[in-house]
Amino acid sequence: MKLTINEHVEMLQVPGIRQFSNKLIHYPDAVNLTIGQPDFPTPEAVKLAGITAIENNQTGYSHNAGLLELRQAVSSFFTWKYGFSYDPEKEIVITNGASEAIDSVFRTILSPGDEVILPTPLYLGYEPIINLCGAKVVYLDTTDTEFRPSPERLESLITSKTKAILFNFPSNPTGVTIEKEQMDELVAVLEKYQLFIISDEIYSENTFSGEHVSFAQYGVLRNRLFLIHGLSKSHSMTGWRIGYVLGAAHFMEHVLKVHLYNSVCASVPSQHAGIVALNECRHTPAEMNMEYVKRRDFVYNRLREMGLDVVKPNGAFYIFPSIKKYGIDSFSFATKLLKEGGVAAVPGSAFTDYGEGYLRISYAYAMPVLEKGMNRLEKFLQRL
Ligand SMILES: Cc1ncc(COP(=O)(O)O)c(C=O)c1O
Repeated sequence: MKLTINEHVEMLQVPGIRQFSNKLIHYPDAVNLTIGQPDFPTPEAVKLAGITAIENNQTGYSHNAGLLELRQAVSSFFTWKYGFSYDPEKEIVITNGASEAIDSVFRTILSPGDEVILPTPLYLGYEPIINLCGAKVVYLDTTDTEFRPSPERLESLITSKTKAILFNFPSNPTGVTIEKEQMDELVAVLEKYQLFIISDEIYSENTFSGEHVSFAQYGVLRNRLFLIHGLSKSHSMTGWRIGYVLGAAHFMEHVLKVHLYNSVCASVPSQHAGIVALNECRHTPAEMNMEYVKRRDFVYNRLREMGLDVVKPNGAFYIFPSIKKYGIDSFSFATKLLKEGGVAAVPGSAFTDYGEGYLRISYAYAMPVLEKGMNRLEKFLQRL
């Protein structure tokens, strides 16, 4: 008898972004603008906390939900910054990065046949997990609404099978944020239907102008909302693998079970580092943002000068210009740009088919790198 693997796993593709970065090794001189992580070091005090934890032999398991002190730090951070409160004992689980938080939440709530609405283009970490649960993705196109979900379109997609809707603002890959008025309109729709709301706000601390508004600030959603977050982007801690999920106690007890059978607990030295990040380094994201804003303005202005149609991002560290006018698909465009122009950027199609016709440029790079990249892109476009 032939050995088979799970049919949903068989269907999974290597992410478009990986397929593309695999090409990169053949072009060592290319300016790489593909990476989705801050280029700043982890703050010194945070590093020291991790080292000290190891030296003090704090290297065993923790409570499955994470060290209580870290859960308290998470809770107090959100209350301080956004005014909402979650009980550290029952409503917060520390995970191995936001990725595992996403996985644990979807696996807690989804059954085969369920539908999940995803505004798109979007980060590629959601759909495979939804598919692995045997559930189905329903896309909410945002390409003609400046990458913000239209409340009317959202409502038109809700059916008796809809189990959840996920939001990700500030957005990867577009860098777009949503204003309070737009959120009010979305919440007015969400209030009418019994759906789970999953809000991945991992880039909230990288909001440049105006205040980030969290879906968790809407009390009417509290009983069915999961807030996904973590330290990867805000404190430049991608490799430490600390994320968290916040939600109502009656659902979080189930999320905790899924999380613990997956990984027992998050890395304990990293959890100690996380306590210091949240309690003592609250200014870190604002310092990084000062740099990101300079870079965002530079890249945005250069792209506009090159004649590219582009929405000005207000968060994260990505920009998503349209390349539709060149009449080639984004994978071919990005490949040509890499081979002939010496610049690596991610084809928009890596972020679902709705990203076709766009390019994702990361500006989590020092200014000289961005200058070189933009100069090369300009020359490439002139020759195209
Ligand atoms: C929108 C979004 N959510 C979640 C993640 C995963 O974050 P983590 O490194 O904490 O797993 C990323 C990483 O790029 C992301 O862009």
